[in-house]
Amino acid sequence: MNDKLIVAKNLTHSFGETLFQDLNIELEANKSIAIVGVSGSGKTTLLHILAGFIKPNSGQVFHFGIDFASRNLKQIEEFRKKNIGMIFQSHYLFKGFSARENLEVAEIIAKKKIDFQILEKLGISNLLDEKVTKLSGGQQQRFSIARILTKQPNIIFADEPTGNLDRKSADEVVEIIFNYIKDKNRGLVLVTHDEKLASKCDNIIRL
Ligand SMILES: Nc1ncnc2c1ncn2[C@@H]1O[C@H](COP(=O)(O)OP(=O)(O)O)[C@@H](O)[C@H]1O
Ligand SMILES: [Mg+2]
Repeated sequence: MNDKLIVAKNLTHSFGETLFQDLNIELEANKSIAIVGVSGSGKTTLLHILAGFIKPNSGQVFHFGIDFASRNLKQIEEFRKKNIGMIFQSHYLFKGFSARENLEVAEIIAKKKIDFQILEKLGISNLLDEKVTKLSGGQQQRFSIARILTKQPNIIFADEPTGNLDRKSADEVVEIIFNYIKDKNRGLVLVTHDEKLASKCDNIIRL
């Protein structure tokens, strides 16, 4: 994989007032970028632009050397399915199902097998047959991360992924994400307002 995972050139965006101007960002395999800033500074907006969910007012985003704006809808869908893993502050598991069934959905969509080692590392391998509603918030977040890692995405976009977790759970979850990036040679874009967490990343963008 020679091409950079993300190259963003001269990104400018505003919703009424300008959030950021002429930002240049690059993400290589095995690397991580933190986006930090106060609430409302445009962190989520920038993350969504880098993931191709929002079109910037001006500037370009290239994934693996291809300009996102040049992809048609079908290519965008394929690209997302294959490359992108989104982790949010609140997890989106299917509530009526067991944890295992939630992972099986990811298996089917991604055509990849659940990585039981990840479940072991996350400390949730014994909870597979529990209903989602019976799990604690931290356990649900771990399953949602396991589900995303099952896809083996090339780029993980995480928007304050530990915002709802206590310090210990947060550290464990973050370690899993970082290990995944290093072990599989992938990339991470992490939105956080935790400076300690941001400092673990290779680059920090401040808004
Ligand atoms: N779709 C939108 N339409 C209009 N304004 C928006 C939209 N999304 C975000 N904003 C505004 O842009 C600013 C930055 O939002 P956001 O990127 O969510 O910031 P952060 O994630 O740093 O808290 C906020 O003032 C927010 O209200
Ligand atoms: Mg946000």
